Amino acid sequence: MSGQQFRRNIIVTGGAGFIGSHLVRLLVKKYPEYRIINVDALTYAGNLANLKDIENCDNYVFRKADVTDFEAMRRIMEDFHVDAIIHLAAESHVDRSIKDPFIFAKTNVLGTLTLLQASKEYWESLPEKFDGKLYYQVSTDEVYGALELTRPDGEAPYGDEFFTEQTRYAPHSPYSASKASADHFVRAFHDTYGLPVIISNCSNNYGPYQFPEKLIPLFINNIRHGKPLPVYGKGENVRDWLYVEDHARAIDLIFHRGTPGETYNIGGFNEWKNIDIVRLVIRTVDRMLGRKEGESERLITFVTDRAGHDLRYAIDSSKLHDELGWEPSLQFEEGIEKTVRWYLDNQEWLDNVTSGEYENYYARFYGDSDTH
Ligand code: NAD
Ligand code: TYD
Repeated sequence: MSGQQFRRNIIVTGGAGFIGSHLVRLLVKKYPEYRIINVDALTYAGNLANLKDIENCDNYVFRKADVTDFEAMRRIMEDFHVDAIIHLAAESHVDRSIKDPFIFAKTNVLGTLTLLQASKEYWESLPEKFDGKLYYQVSTDEVYGALELTRPDGEAPYGDEFFTEQTRYAPHSPYSASKASADHFVRAFHDTYGLPVIISNCSNNYGPYQFPEKLIPLFINNIRHGKPLPVYGKGENVRDWLYVEDHARAIDLIFHRGTPGETYNIGGFNEWKNIDIVRLVIRTVDRMLGRKEGESERLITFVTDRAGHDLRYAIDSSKLHDELGWEPSLQFEEGIEKTVRWYLDNQEWLDNVTSGEYENYYARFYGDSDTH
């Protein structure tokens, strides 16, 4: 299979997932001269329907494969003359990692190591070796651990401390521990073998095509169906939210203009307490469904807190802004408006992904709620 007619041949792993599908769409449309090879195992979180609009593009290829399968990864790299990898495939939900940490170690740690080793071996076998090659690791701010909430009742920001690229890794959940471990392997391959790598650590994403086990899509769906909204603890945890297309734009920019060996934080300086987001989403859904605004507040159900629940995440993304000129394009309220509209207009997508198996998992997990 020749890749000569394409200027670059880029693997995106996890391209059928939430962020991956936005990134694949952006790259396929913006760079017809690149071939984008979407490598995804299609777990419960992967859905090719996320890419219906671009699946027939000449510069798009899909390969169903597991990133922990070394032979498969090597073969795809050789078949498509791959010169860059953007690695997103992962188990990504903290609550699942608390229930079943092993798959997180396998997919997130071994999967990353497999891609690193396969790309190193493949690129070393070429005459130009690592020249013009790039391994890009998509990571999370959760690797940095948690920040204090020093102004719990004030306006955002909720404290003076932020995660910078210099913050020491201190993960708490099995999910963040697996992502941190993967990032360490990425750095080790850079420092030990000279593999050209870049890591970016992004804050919480939201937007269309996010699997409805994460806060925002889960709650939109539950409000629509009049189901309880399980708020962990008192809803006081703070997250820093970014619209998914802004994350995809940042990855595109860093991929092209970032410096190999460097790390970039991505975030919108947009901190919100969970309970405030819940109220905003309730107001938005109620209004769009023609209900009395705030009517669905009765669905708020405070449940037992998540074990080891990180209090606050807040990203300092000034390096990305100052060095590469990136900034988020959407205000949060605008992004929530777009997101709620999308979920309400795409009920079929939601029905398809909320299979019986997922519903059962969900029921088991939230069995201990205490309704207020
Ligand atoms: P997601 O769960 O929606 O999608 C993950 C994708 O990876 C799915 O398509 C799934 O099929 C695929 N996958 C899982 N295991 C695989 C395997 N063994 N082999 C091949 N494919 C496999 O995740 P997401 O929210 O889109 O996150 C993507 C990446 O971005 C992850 O690495 C995550 O850690 C990171 N990240 C996510 C957020 C966020 O808020 N969602 C924030 C920062 C960073
Ligand atoms: P989530 O979307 O799972 O992202 P993360 O854990 O990676 O930050 O959760 C966002 C926040 O919302 C987090 O503080 C946990 C909280 N949360 C709830 O209160 N109830 C829920 O049902 C879910 C899924 C999350």
